[in-house]
Amino acid sequence: MAAMLVLGIESSCDETGLALCDSERGLLAHALHSQVDLHEAYGGVVPELASRDHIRRIVPLLRKVLADAGARAGDIDAVAYTAGPGLAGALLVGAGFAEALAFALGVPVLPVHHLEGHLLSPLLAAEAPRFPFVALLVSGGHTQLMRVAGVGRYELLGETLDDAAGEAFDKTAKLLGLGYPGGPQLARLAERGETGRFALPRPMLRSGDLDFSFSGLKTAVMTLVGRQALDEQAKADLCAEFQAAIVEVLSAKALAALAATGLKQLVIAGGVGANLALRAALAAGAAEAGARVFHPEPALCTDNGAMIAFAGAQRLAAGFAPKPAGGFGVRPRWDLQEA
Ligand code: KG4
Ligand code: ZN
Repeated sequence: MAAMLVLGIESSCDETGLALCDSERGLLAHALHSQVDLHEAYGGVVPELASRDHIRRIVPLLRKVLADAGARAGDIDAVAYTAGPGLAGALLVGAGFAEALAFALGVPVLPVHHLEGHLLSPLLAAEAPRFPFVALLVSGGHTQLMRVAGVGRYELLGETLDDAAGEAFDKTAKLLGLGYPGGPQLARLAERGETGRFALPRPMLRSGDLDFSFSGLKTAVMTLVGRQALDEQAKADLCAEFQAAIVEVLSAKALAALAATGLKQLVIAGGVGANLALRAALAAGAAEAGARVFHPEPALCTDNGAMIAFAGAQRLAAGFAPKPAGGFGVRPRWDLQEA
């Protein structure tokens, strides 16, 4: 197959990301606008504001990636975009723009599953895993363990029964009066705290399966916070305990997934994958099990366009047919195994 230039567009939540990926030369350019400042005042993502901001950012970001890659719009061979899961209005901005641009250019489109983007993003790193591998997907919306046999070949091994790991971080951070987004702030405060002062559960640690549950942890923190006034050190200690609980469960189950599949490569993807305590625990556990851990480049851990452009290019290379532009819908809820 001749080299194809794929434009990728991500707009499922609060980041507008665009990128150009060449099926042979790899990632050529990517640009991102984060809406963190926009939503900060509200303590969380306001969907309608997110949609409107995507509209404002998308064309300037396209111009930027074209300029950075030294390409023209006419060079684009296919347009990949996040078709779900995510916020319906935000997804529609990316999908509408992608479909219209592809129609105007006379090229096909590749609707991409957001989690497939995260899942394949470690393949863009200098040290990339090879199929098959186990992936731990930990984002604001999802916590899943997958067996990845190849592009488009994903087997769900286990997932959260309620809150996602990132969601638990964010909700707990909010309870403690930390800013938005809470995950990184809670992690930063945890560095100054000590575990052992507060008792928090390790939900489903011994459930014997690969599923998770994090909503009880948030409730346990709420109970502790309601019972006493916390000074700064106590807050830091509580953050440290909370992070340790999540990290312990995530790493135990990820290692159990390696044991259950007999695989020796573990990929960590999604925003929570940026958590340093989680990285350290997994590195130590994997080393003990004779396995290796792979991460996306730090800039590609959270939502971005590069992973969507790359997933699109990978799908093309794997022989998945793109679809003609025009006539589209988005899937705010979408199981990866149906992708
Ligand atoms: O993958 P992502 O950017 O967006 C979704 O698809 O959800 O993940 C965002 C999530 C948020 O919940 C954020 O709080 C969390 O990842 N996160 C972290 C850290 N950095 C981001 N959680 C814990 N520790 C971090 N260092
Ligand atoms: Zn994501």
